[in-house]
Amino acid sequence: MKRFCLAVLFFTSVLSVAAQAVEGVHIIPQPVSLSLQSEGMIFNNFTKVELENGNEEAEKVIRTWITQFNDLSGYNWFLSTVKPKDNLPNVIRFILNAKPNPVLGKEGYTLEVAGNRTIITANQPVGFYYAIQTIKQLLPKEVLSVKIVRNKAWKIAGVKITDYPRFEWRGLMFDVVRHFFTKEEVKRFIDEMAEYKYNILHLHLSDDQGWRIEIKSLPKLTEVGAWRADKTGRLGTFSPPAANEPRTYGGFYTQEDIKELIAYAKDRYIEIMPEIDVPGHSMAAVAAYPELSCTPGTYQVNSGEKFMNWLGGGKFTAIVDNTLCPANEKVYEFLDKVYTEIAELFPFGYIHMGGDECAKNFWQKSAAVTELMKREKLKDYDEVQSYFVKRVSNIITSKGKKMMGWDEILEGGIAQGATIMSWRGDKGGIEAAKLGHEVVMTPNTFVYLDLVQGDAAIEPPNYDKVYLKKTFEFNPVPAGVDAKFIKGGQGNLWTEQIYNFRQVQYMLWPRAFAVANALWSQHKAIEWNQFVKNIEQHFERFDYAERKYAPSMYEPLIEARTQAGGLLEVKLVPEANHTTFHYSFDNSYPDRFYPKATDWITVPKDAQMLRTISYAGDKQVGRFITISIDELKKRAGSK
Ligand code: ACM
Repeated sequence: MKRFCLAVLFFTSVLSVAAQAVEGVHIIPQPVSLSLQSEGMIFNNFTKVELENGNEEAEKVIRTWITQFNDLSGYNWFLSTVKPKDNLPNVIRFILNAKPNPVLGKEGYTLEVAGNRTIITANQPVGFYYAIQTIKQLLPKEVLSVKIVRNKAWKIAGVKITDYPRFEWRGLMFDVVRHFFTKEEVKRFIDEMAEYKYNILHLHLSDDQGWRIEIKSLPKLTEVGAWRADKTGRLGTFSPPAANEPRTYGGFYTQEDIKELIAYAKDRYIEIMPEIDVPGHSMAAVAAYPELSCTPGTYQVNSGEKFMNWLGGGKFTAIVDNTLCPANEKVYEFLDKVYTEIAELFPFGYIHMGGDECAKNFWQKSAAVTELMKREKLKDYDEVQSYFVKRVSNIITSKGKKMMGWDEILEGGIAQGATIMSWRGDKGGIEAAKLGHEVVMTPNTFVYLDLVQGDAAIEPPNYDKVYLKKTFEFNPVPAGVDAKFIKGGQGNLWTEQIYNFRQVQYMLWPRAFAVANALWSQHKAIEWNQFVKNIEQHFERFDYAERKYAPSMYEPLIEARTQAGGLLEVKLVPEANHTTFHYSFDNSYPDRFYPKATDWITVPKDAQMLRTISYAGDKQVGRFITISIDELKKRAGSK
């Protein structure tokens, strides 16, 4: 009993250390345990970098960092693998544990900076890689500079850190279909992920708007399927392209490109999971090979014109049949070719087959599907979909891979051994875990990074919103679920409304900080206010790196209501607690000398617009927001 009490005491004290903020240290994701040491270290040209008990992979990890840091600082560091004979200061020593430290697991590390020495231990070289990401975050912000930085005191705070991930699956999904991103842009995406200890890049490679990977046995997939009419605005609402309109927008990755990306990601301890999305979302494939459809006709890659009816409550019908025909043997031959090449190309153990949002209304009209239902005794169209998914599962598993699908593949009966990616909230994840299947949690309510992240008055429009604070609250293990089935989670970046890489960055950061924190750090390892402080420091680093990010957390969410007598009132609600908002109704641009919004504000009867600006202390941090009084009336429901 006494031993038990002592253990509890020890455990709670470790946890409380973990949960504490350490002044001046702003590591994202939050390490498992972190404390300050009295004296840190200053890196200089004479700093020695040593590796004890290393191997080739560990040497490569450290040498890569040394080269980057030498390029930035002008230093001439090199790696010594000779066993050190002395214990002099001004040394960075990496020690690969001869006997694994069970606390650290595969990916963990310890990092101690004290007395002008830095000591790193890990069980595997990947632990060194993550320790280096942490060291970079402890160094001055200029470490991310795109310019060479000379004569800088590279001071690193004294810290003692023990760190390892909560989940093995720490992913981001990048939709390179709706808008195409070049190989170089995907590499930048990988670079940015790696800094925050993500380890899986899920590439969404096929959809209605394009087919983005070379399949050598099916050349029309990229000759036809990779191209659409070039349009700008809000994808999904575009005018239909004219019959002869040139199809100049798009692109694809050759298999050589993919090999290059896989190697690039591997050097950063990131695996790439390919997704080929079937049987819905398949217009690009059907445009290339129309015989794969249940509905005879000619098809074109969707160029952003409306082709689905979204009816609300998760219901929809297709206006144009964008599905592969489950009753056509040619479809399975086609998929065998596709997944054979995919399986040969990607070393990762999982292939994602999509399975989401498959409209069934054209299947209902298909004599071949009716015949299939009779033959296979399928009682409804969910069972038809399940029949299709099980056949795909047989194809994928026959290539030695595990199959993953969006949570729709639960409908009509899940395929044996399938892993579920739960996106429609956590319902699918809960159901799959209860059935004993592996789950990756990507609930749209928390981690859909394409959704609007601040007030609609200023953000690019989309169909729903997910604010930073909501993402920060993401816990991949739903209540009542056995955690052993939850492999981890990921943030998903769909790109219907994302046209360029700057906007990719804007949508990712800062919410992808919060996703990284949810996936690596222990649950509730950091408080919201401290997390915001950490983000601010990383924003400054991003300024040096010339990376874009969204300042939305500084800006107000604007609420409106109507009081008795028709009086309109407005409230500016903060997300980050330390911001203040100043406002005007007289059409001028406010600054911090204008009235400060604190509670509900009465809107002057004849005002035309509200303008507001955000400050943290005396520093302007948010953008000007202008919203019309008519829009406020709409929000108040009084128009
Ligand atoms: C999805 O967002 N349709 C998986």
